Amino acid sequence: MVQLPLQGRTVAVSGAGGSLGQALLQQLHRQGASLVALTTRQETLQLKAADGSPIPLRQVTWSCGQEEALSAVLQDCDLLVINHGFNSHGDRSPDAVERSLQVNALSSWRLLELFARLAQADPPDRPRRELWMNTSEAEIQAAVSPLYELSKRLQGQLLSLRSLDLAGPKLRIRRLVLGPFRSALNPIGVMDATFVAREILRQVSWNCSLVIVTPNPLTYVLMPLATLSRWLYFSLVSRPSP
Ligand SMILES: NC(=O)c1ccc[n+]([C@@H]2O[C@H](COP(=O)([O-])OP(=O)(O)OC[C@H]3O[C@@H](n4cnc5c(N)ncnc54)[C@H](OP(=O)(O)O)[C@@H]3O)[C@@H](O)[C@H]2O)c1
Repeated sequence: MVQLPLQGRTVAVSGAGGSLGQALLQQLHRQGASLVALTTRQETLQLKAADGSPIPLRQVTWSCGQEEALSAVLQDCDLLVINHGFNSHGDRSPDAVERSLQVNALSSWRLLELFARLAQADPPDRPRRELWMNTSEAEIQAAVSPLYELSKRLQGQLLSLRSLDLAGPKLRIRRLVLGPFRSALNPIGVMDATFVAREILRQVSWNCSLVIVTPNPLTYVLMPLATLSRWLYFSLVSRPSP
């Protein structure tokens, strides 16, 4: 299991150039992790620690649909944070449907399967790997963006379904359920990405598998109920992979 602090552990974060991606990398650096920034950007990511010193990181360029190409990079990672995401806002065109489903749901699911496969092949003495998947409270609440809600619900439901087979002694899975914070994706979010990143790490240090950071009290009630009822339903009506 990945325990805080993260001295000597290697952590990869997707959507590394975005607001939460950068904030998470900064907080993970404070925990002593070696960082791998997965980004679609060509320009060099330059992150600074609280004292102004540059944060060392390995920057890896990837694109949605090319997840398998990350296999060699992820082989060396103890923790993968699937954090990239896209919000089409009010756009309901076929292009927006395609992009929302590909980026938010299918690419996240493909990375989950890839990382789980790598974990399954680990020797018995390797410490358990972890995967954190950043869905959203849009999994269960309105986000004033139908395609964002649809694709985040699919992402969350696929995570619930496949976790039945993929979580285990070789892989610990945590779900990050976040409320609105300010970023390119949501310029009017009420929380600050640095605050959210700190709260995520605080709840991980309490060993929570369901990490919830939001000002909305309903999410703290509804999200555990949603994950529990999905777990029950999916366990009853589906079979493990052979
Ligand atoms: N902001 C909110 O209110 C809120 C609330 C709940 C959950 N979330 C979730 O938090 C995560 C981070 O979002 P954020 O708010 O920090 O937004 P952000 O600043 O826009 O960051 C999102 C990042 O996702 C990556 N991305 C976007 N399109 C992509 C594509 N086609 N292929 C691959 N990567 C792509 C980009 O990273 P690179 O530029 O590095 O490639 C982008 O910077 C998302 O999953 C989002 O759904 C956000």
